[in-house]
Amino acid sequence: MNQELSEQLNKTLVIRGKEIRNRLFLAPMSGLGHIAFRELLSEFDGYGLLFSEMCSARAVPQENRYVSPVFSWRDQELDRLVCQIFGSDPDTMARAAVRIEQEGFWGIDINFGCSVAAICKKNCGAALLRDPQLAAEIVSAVRRQVSIPLFVKFRTGWKDDPGYAADLARRFEDAGADALTFHPRVAPDRRSRPPKWEVIGIVKDSVSIPVFGNGNIFDENDGLTMLKKTNCDGIAIGRMAIARPWIFSMWTEGFVPGGNIYRDVAVNMTLLLEKYYNPSRAVKRFKKFAIYFAANFRFGHSIYTRICHGETMPEIRNHIETVFQTVPELVERPNMNMFTN
Ligand SMILES: Cc1cc2nc3c(=O)[nH]c(=O)nc-3n(C[C@H](O)[C@H](O)[C@H](O)COP(=O)(O)O)c2cc1C
Repeated sequence: MNQELSEQLNKTLVIRGKEIRNRLFLAPMSGLGHIAFRELLSEFDGYGLLFSEMCSARAVPQENRYVSPVFSWRDQELDRLVCQIFGSDPDTMARAAVRIEQEGFWGIDINFGCSVAAICKKNCGAALLRDPQLAAEIVSAVRRQVSIPLFVKFRTGWKDDPGYAADLARRFEDAGADALTFHPRVAPDRRSRPPKWEVIGIVKDSVSIPVFGNGNIFDENDGLTMLKKTNCDGIAIGRMAIARPWIFSMWTEGFVPGGNIYRDVAVNMTLLLEKYYNPSRAVKRFKKFAIYFAANFRFGHSIYTRICHGETMPEIRNHIETVFQTVPELVERPNMNMFTN
C-alpha cells in the first residue's frame, strides 16, 4: 500500500453536513456499476461512495426497483450510494430527485458528462454543456427540491477550453451543487486520448466546493499524481474498478490480493448477476464486465474470447474454471486496447 496515498484518501470529508469515510469513489458507469457489481465491491469495501449507473429522470418517479435493471439497490448500500440521473428538463429532473431522496440514497448526481450519441441526441448528458444556462437551471431545480448532497459530473465541454470548464463549474456551484466530479476530456472524445489532468486543477481553483478528479487512474502512482498535481479533493475510479474490484480496499485499507482472486471474482460476478437479472441480461452484463476484467492479463483478448464463449452462465462458469486453473500472466497496467472498446 502506498502510505502517502492512503493517508490522503482516508482524510474524511463532510459534504452538506454528511461525512464520507474516504475520498475514493466508484465513478458512474452504465452497464457496469449495477446492483450485482456493487454487491461484489461491497465484499472488499474500502470506498467512500458508490455512484449508480445513469438512470433516466423521466423513468425514475414510477420505476419499480425490483424490476428496473438500473434503478435498483440493496437497502444496506444506501448510506454510501449516490444515484445518477440524466435528463434535459429541469422539472423532470427535480421530480426524479425527490424520489431518490425519499428512497434514502446518500446523494444525487447529475450527468452532464455522457457523450454517447443516443443520450446527446435527446439533449441530455454532455449535450447540456453547450447550454450552460439550461444546465444551471437543472441544477437549481433539483437543489430547490432536495436537501441531500448534490453532485454534478461533467467534462471540459465541446471545445478544448479550460476557461469554459471553469465557468461551468462556477455556474454549477452558484446553482447549488455541493460537489463536482470532473473528467477533463472534450465531449466527443471517448477514451482514446488521455484526459488533461491539469484542467482538473483549473476547475478546482475556480470553485469553493469539493472537486473530485476522474480519468485514467490505473495505479497508485496515478492516484497520488492526480491529487498532488491538481489539488483535487478526491478521486473517482471507473474502468480500473471493474478490472480490479479490490482496488478500493487495496488503496485505503491495505488489502493484499492473494490466492486465485481473478477466478474467485469472475465466478462471483456470474453468480451475483444471476441473482439479480434474467439469464439473458445476466450474460450480456457479464460480457461487458469481462472486457474490462480481461484487460488485467497479458493475453487479455484471448482470455476474453475464451471466457465469454457460450450463451449461458453455466457454460461461462465452466470456461472461467478452465481459464483460471492457474493465474494467467498479468500486466502492470491494463491492456489499453481493451479499455477503449
Ligand atoms: C462503459 C462505461 C459506461 C459509462 N457510463 C457513464 C455514466 O452512465 N455516467 C457517467 O457520468 N459517466 C459514465 N462513464 C464515464 C466514467 O464515469 C468515467 O468518467 C470514465 O470511464 C473515465 O474514468 P476512468 O478512466 O477511471 O474509467 C462511463 C464509462 C464507461 C467506460
